Amino acid sequence: MAEHSIPAIGRQNGHPVLMVDGKPFIMLAGEVHNSDSSSPAYMEKIWDTAEELGMNTLLLPVSWEMTEPEEGTFDFSVPEALIGQARERNMKIGFLWFGSWKNADCMYAPEWVKRDLVRFPRAQIEKGKNKAGRQVSPTIPVKMPYTTLSYLGEETVKADAKAFAAFMGFLKEFDGQAHTVVTVQVENETGLLGAAREVSDAADAAFACPVPADFAAYMRSHTDTMTDGIRDEVLSGKERGTWTEVFGSAAEELFSAYHTARFVNTVAEAGKAVYPLPMTANCWLDKDGAPGDYPTGGPVSKVHEVWQFCAPCIDVLCPDIYVPQFKEVCDEYTRRGGALFIPECATHSYAAPRLLYTVGHYHAMCYSPFGFDDIGKPFTMVQGFLFGMDVTDPALKTPQNYEEYAKTGKILREMMPMLAEAYGSDRLKALSGETDPLTEHPSGIPFLATPPSMDFGDFTVSVTFKSMVNPRNDGACLCLKVSGEECWIAGNACRIDVRSGRADRPNLDLLSVEEGTFENGVWVPGRRLNGDETAQLTMDTPSVLHVRFFTYA
Ligand code: DGJ
Repeated sequence: MAEHSIPAIGRQNGHPVLMVDGKPFIMLAGEVHNSDSSSPAYMEKIWDTAEELGMNTLLLPVSWEMTEPEEGTFDFSVPEALIGQARERNMKIGFLWFGSWKNADCMYAPEWVKRDLVRFPRAQIEKGKNKAGRQVSPTIPVKMPYTTLSYLGEETVKADAKAFAAFMGFLKEFDGQAHTVVTVQVENETGLLGAAREVSDAADAAFACPVPADFAAYMRSHTDTMTDGIRDEVLSGKERGTWTEVFGSAAEELFSAYHTARFVNTVAEAGKAVYPLPMTANCWLDKDGAPGDYPTGGPVSKVHEVWQFCAPCIDVLCPDIYVPQFKEVCDEYTRRGGALFIPECATHSYAAPRLLYTVGHYHAMCYSPFGFDDIGKPFTMVQGFLFGMDVTDPALKTPQNYEEYAKTGKILREMMPMLAEAYGSDRLKALSGETDPLTEHPSGIPFLATPPSMDFGDFTVSVTFKSMVNPRNDGACLCLKVSGEECWIAGNACRIDVRSGRADRPNLDLLSVEEGTFENGVWVPGRRLNGDETAQLTMDTPSVLHVRFFTYA
């Protein structure tokens, strides 16, 4: 077998792609519940579900507490067993390093770290307190006890980095040839809750110091990509001075981001020095809250410039998307040119259409519903809270249909190599009901509304989702252009129209429309569609069509 370089982030047509064994790879993934991957025996049935759902990768926590139960004594038996399970099923893994941070807390630190409050100081959101009450939400006047490790803890970052480097060393030795593990997330949802910055004496002293000159200069030279609020503060602040003088009202959040990103980078750097797999950092979104309401210092979009400067070893900053504003978040996380890597998202009925849409529209590196083994089950109270069920769109309150996710997932898994090859080009596009509604006709007559379309130059594919005849808005459609006269269309819950895009040959006739499946990458045609089936070309279940046509004057 030819030896390949280890998984890496490459560029294809100017677009960032994950390269695995020399080829672009799309992580059609699922993230397991937090505790599942602590037990390989428990995982057996979860792997079965992942296979049924067409996934090719699982995102699996690996915790510092189980990796280094006693200082300096390491145990990699669990990740070793998980890698073995993945190999048996021809699947990949993205490990999630639950180290000093997990959901802005430190519950996965080993007990020798938790117990030693002097060597491994806690973050103070109230002066002198290792655990303090934090208000859970601005509208609910209830305080919950909160603690996490300090981002200023020098011994903490050293110990975390040492453990992470040991873990990466194990991966290099055990998986350095086979490349079952393709990415590693460093920490989980970093940041500080309850305050914009730590307020210990050490934190106060650091905050009163001048901002490091190289960082202040970087921020001033990167205002073009900043969000408005941060840009305004940077431009109106002093070039040099204390955090408040340089960054005004954004000073506390930028201080937290600076120290959190540097901490994470130190951990990532130690791991990369041993085995440089692509590394990511995921984010609990700010949801328009005030600093302290969300984990402050974590990689929310407004502090991406800080993370870029302080954490060069992190390859991708990733949104965990449970909010209804899916497209807004994806646009925000890609507008600076980075890859779209979604390690966590909701399992309501937009889960499958968003899979198609993120692959076809954003050429996403990873899409991964969280707790995917719950797909199809009624929502629990936690999911109800997480998915924002007080919204008006019924699709956000409906669990994803299991069969539909499975069919969609399998289609994409089979098509993955050809889709990945088109990443970064204009040959691959997608639309979805959630993001691309009909445009109303000025007369208001529903029949005259214009559907959204994908323009491939020689031809266009317009797609109608929710309409007079289709009550469903949770459809999506992806089109891969083969040539000016041929394409593949994968979609569900929609109606398709293929039209000429050429002014000199404005007419288009369909030549053949086949439905079918890919088996081991080979197209196996089913029915040849014509007559009624092409007069109204509808996709009522997740399916693929091979469409050939010609244009003429
Ligand atoms: C976000 C975290 O990153 C996950 O580990 C998990 O706790 C989910 N929230 C949902 O509970």
